[in-house]
Amino acid sequence: MSAAFIRRVPIVAGNWKMHYGPSDAHDFATAILGGLTSIPMVERVLCPPAVSLTAVHAVIAGSGVRLGAQNMYFEPRGAYTGEIAPTMLQGLCDYVILGHSERRGYFGETDELVNRKTLAAFAYGLTPIVCVGERLEDRDANLTERVITEQVRGSLANLPPERVAELVVAYEPIWAIGTGRAATAQDAADVVAIIRALLAELYGADAAQAVRVQYGGSVTAANIAEFAALPDIDGALVGGASLKPEFIEIVRRTAEAKGLG
Ligand code: 13P
Repeated sequence: MSAAFIRRVPIVAGNWKMHYGPSDAHDFATAILGGLTSIPMVERVLCPPAVSLTAVHAVIAGSGVRLGAQNMYFEPRGAYTGEIAPTMLQGLCDYVILGHSERRGYFGETDELVNRKTLAAFAYGLTPIVCVGERLEDRDANLTERVITEQVRGSLANLPPERVAELVVAYEPIWAIGTGRAATAQDAADVVAIIRALLAELYGADAAQAVRVQYGGSVTAANIAEFAALPDIDGALVGGASLKPEFIEIVRRTAEAKGLG
């Protein structure tokens, strides 16, 4: 198929981070499920903490709402205290967030480690949502392109070419995460264009056009339409606002902005 005819299904994922243990996760997922199921034109993904995955899985089973993990290790099993294997997520989750800036920043994850995890996700039937993003000091020093290029080349190296189209990339400028200061739509679009150009260079134009790229960083119901209205941005990775019923509104406005509402 020619790249011009590829239609990407928008994808909005809620990264609950370290919120909602099993009981709260069950209750919150139950509360938002009806609203989410009424917007099937957007792919909706809930990413609770690992300990709450099974509780949320039970709530959303058969609803079309998808489940994602927030992290995993790349080895299939073994003596890795505290880690979660792709084999454990297989069959439970559809997605796994990898290389979130909080993992990179607080837990020392490198592009090389994120790459090993990304390859493992593909190998075990999980769709990776790979996060990239620059720090404020990078942006201020005009290093955004260099940093993003390094992260994309490093984290997304050697992917199986026939699977690249399934990949989801989340562009999350670190200075916009949890700060209430979202990027401008133009800033986001500029970086997403860089990401797609790199993907085209690495895996070809068709694959680059098929990959879905989300924006993340202080997304709310009030600003999602600015991002989702851009043809190159396929949805959002939402933190704080995904812990509230506002998440439903974010999905709804994504559908509307894409002309699917
Ligand atoms: P906030 O939406 O809270 O800024 O978090 C964004 C994020 O890190 C999602 O992964």
